[in-house]
Amino acid sequence: MSHSVRRHLRVDIAEYDASIRRFIPGYEAMLAEAAKAVAAVSPRLVLDLGAGTGALSAAILERDEVGTVELVDVDPEMLAQARVRLAGAGDRARFALRSFDDPFPACDAVTASLALHHVPTLEAKGALFRRAAEALRPGGVVVNADVTMPADPEGREAGFRVWADHLVVSGIEERRAWEHFAEWATEDTYFPLEEELRLLRDAGLDARCVWREGPSTILVGTKPQEPVGRGLPYAGVGSPPLPARDLQG
Ligand SMILES: C[S@@+](CC[C@H](N)C(=O)[O-])C[C@H]1O[C@@H](n2cnc3c(N)ncnc32)[C@H](O)[C@@H]1O
Repeated sequence: MSHSVRRHLRVDIAEYDASIRRFIPGYEAMLAEAAKAVAAVSPRLVLDLGAGTGALSAAILERDEVGTVELVDVDPEMLAQARVRLAGAGDRARFALRSFDDPFPACDAVTASLALHHVPTLEAKGALFRRAAEALRPGGVVVNADVTMPADPEGREAGFRVWADHLVVSGIEERRAWEHFAEWATEDTYFPLEEELRLLRDAGLDARCVWREGPSTILVGTKPQEPVGRGLPYAGVGSPPLPARDLQG
């Protein structure tokens, strides 16, 4: 699957970081909160899906509790910018030019900011969350920072109204703000917060909303720890106990 941010958002890649701050309410705070939620599980490996120019990865890598972040994106121009931004991170940042529709490696956290609205249906998003849950170790997290919108027309209109006000405050003409929404709608799909939570729960995760500002939302899904016993892998300290037959002479 190919995708070009230059074409979709109609911004030059070098301008992307400035533009996205004007477009998205609370962008900086959202990345900081998402990074905090990721770091809370002291992950060795984090996948940043649709990582773009690497702003979320950079916020995550500022935290000492985090090992490596793999930035996954289909747009080579965006990943090239991310390489420049994260040059100082050395081998704690690695770059993968591939789709988030491809298989995930085993990991401790799967995160995304403003990327999973490219998944067009609830069914496809549910499938992505299930794949993420399977890739996670017990106790790992999905942290998804994105726009959510109510399903009912009145709530939706109010949601876009709040968003349009943010664009206007950021210096964008109101008429242009509504044009932006129409342009983005050709590729972006925003689901209601409750539906996103349901999909995370259906994937077997403990899901909650941890932050909101206008339409910007962060949802966290935690993979439960496996119960000890009943044939599951040994969870004690040191070597697992020997089976009884090995103890008999
Ligand atoms: C709006 S940008 C968000 C970038 C960054 N996460 C941020 O918060 O600024 C969306 C990103 O998702 C990427 N993307 C879209 N579809 C994708 C897919 N199927 N697999 C991987 N990346 C994808 C785009 O190339 C783009 O870089």
